[in-house]
Amino acid sequence: MAIPDAFLDELVSRTDIAELVGGYVRLSKKSGANMFGICPFHSEKTPSFSINSEKQIYHCFGCGKGGGAIGFVMEIENLPFRDAVEVLARRAGMTVPEEAGQVEVANRRRRLIELNRDAARHFHTMLSSSLGASARDYLVQRGISKASATRFGLGAAPDNWTILFDAMLKKGYKKAELVEAGLCRPGRGGEGAYDFFRDRLIFPVIDVRGNVIAFSGRILGDGEPKYLNSPDTVAFSKSRNMYALNFAKNSKAGNLLLVEGNIDVVTLHQAGFDSAVAPLGTAFTEQQARLMATYTENIIIAFDPDEAGKKATLRVLPLLEATGKNVKVVDLGASGDPDDFIRKRGVDAFRALLKHGESQIDYRLITISKGHDMQTDEGRLSYLAKATDLLAEINSIPEREIYTSKVALAAGVSVDSIKNEITRKVRTKSKARAKTREKEVMRPRVNIQPKGRELRYENESSAVAEEGIIRCIMRDSTLIKVISEKGFAHSEFTSKFLEKVYLILEKRLSEDREINEAQVSSELEPNEASEFMRIMRKPESLPDSDNRVRSYIEKIRTEKLRTHAPDTDTLLEIKRLKETYGGHKG
Ligand code: UTP
Ligand code: MN
Repeated sequence: MAIPDAFLDELVSRTDIAELVGGYVRLSKKSGANMFGICPFHSEKTPSFSINSEKQIYHCFGCGKGGGAIGFVMEIENLPFRDAVEVLARRAGMTVPEEAGQVEVANRRRRLIELNRDAARHFHTMLSSSLGASARDYLVQRGISKASATRFGLGAAPDNWTILFDAMLKKGYKKAELVEAGLCRPGRGGEGAYDFFRDRLIFPVIDVRGNVIAFSGRILGDGEPKYLNSPDTVAFSKSRNMYALNFAKNSKAGNLLLVEGNIDVVTLHQAGFDSAVAPLGTAFTEQQARLMATYTENIIIAFDPDEAGKKATLRVLPLLEATGKNVKVVDLGASGDPDDFIRKRGVDAFRALLKHGESQIDYRLITISKGHDMQTDEGRLSYLAKATDLLAEINSIPEREIYTSKVALAAGVSVDSIKNEITRKVRTKSKARAKTREKEVMRPRVNIQPKGRELRYENESSAVAEEGIIRCIMRDSTLIKVISEKGFAHSEFTSKFLEKVYLILEKRLSEDREINEAQVSSELEPNEASEFMRIMRKPESLPDSDNRVRSYIEKIRTEKLRTHAPDTDTLLEIKRLKETYGGHKG
């Protein structure tokens, strides 16, 4: 069931896009109805992200992304259409009319969270019982205080196969629910079940709303696997949550401190660094980067100083950098992870380290210089080659100059001698970037296919152009005139889904009705609406849209000719097309 048109209309009219976006982006009033800010979707230093309050749309002149309020929430919160509508509805004090399936998922989620809360209580109670002695000893050994254990709701899973299972059954939960939550495993042959976490220290994972959504269990000492983690469930997505963000988001520190381990987080909070968070046993994801960016302007990375930690730092940096926030890296030297560091060198030393943490560029330059022997000419030259590559990536000119002098100093050469080299690299880079962007608009290699199999594109190249036509008309409905001017028929769409969207636009426009994302979505099935919004968010440059639509139409037609063996009819058609459009442009 689609969400009713009237509801979405009401929702959009109750939402002020400037206010909505203002929650994520600092906007300053510029000319007329437009406001500008730093784009939250790509990394930039000068504002090219615009809000048009009259049309209630956003558009970034830098990366080309644009759309309406629903699309904005989908993109920035990484949500499917329906969830984005929920978010906006909550803001607007409205309730989305629910369909049966949705109610069911919501109920299951609620029930799992209830179960997790009861399980967390059980584990926590165990910690102070006789069965929790070994876990308590382990806490003492790791220097984790009783107060910290309480604050984080730490618990003990005793060395027992069914203690949690039995306790939760007694509370009225079903075996299937315990299995779904990942707390228990079904027994052999489907008989009974056994506890997943046994003889471990339990860290409940709590989301920013305060729900217990998962657990992490550490072995009490050495052994494999060191940690067990809950699987993803309807209530938990590993890649979209962070350990301790529920506390860290309220920190007064003015930053978020990203560390690797749960133990690091707990001991850091205990030492007063209450902005520490950790990924949840997976490689750090783009969604986690965005999640962190929602809560702070400053992100500090303090991963373990071993090889793995350094690699992870270099992998995480670009993800965090892409959020446009200030990112610093601290080098813990030879002192082990943050937990070890504080134990060995003390709280003040760690505080000083955070204060002086290097910017990401510094960190990368140091990493580069460490890989070269700066005593030899060859070493210095190959250092310069790598370092100037990095300098060429810095967009802000003053910043680039500062680092250029640092590099010159490190390599023992004059600034002037490397300036030309950098300028040359900057030029090549921006040319290459423009080229790939152009190519990707006409023929993207990645991600063109819709998420749902049922919407799959038969001809990807044609679909790219078909999507383009829809985007152009959505952004400027007067472009429909180009369609009729070129005699383009809806049957020329190779994707049934895109044809459906196009027909909706055509019908609305012919009835002189408005078109916006919400109204069009309301006429689509939920999976189609999600896909439609995804298409709408793809980059599309605004200028010269007439000609873009023309070239999209041509693209669709040449694709058709390319993919169909030219029978007589088609040959005639080619001839006709050539006569009609050949020779003169547009
Ligand atoms: P660490 O090995 O650094 O663990 O892994 P730690 O929490 O800092 O523990 P100590 O200080 O070595 O005792 C970092 C994180 O990686 C995940 C956990 O989330 C852990 O906190 N991890 C690690 C797993 O999910 N599974 C594993 O087997 C190991
Ligand atoms: Mn560690």
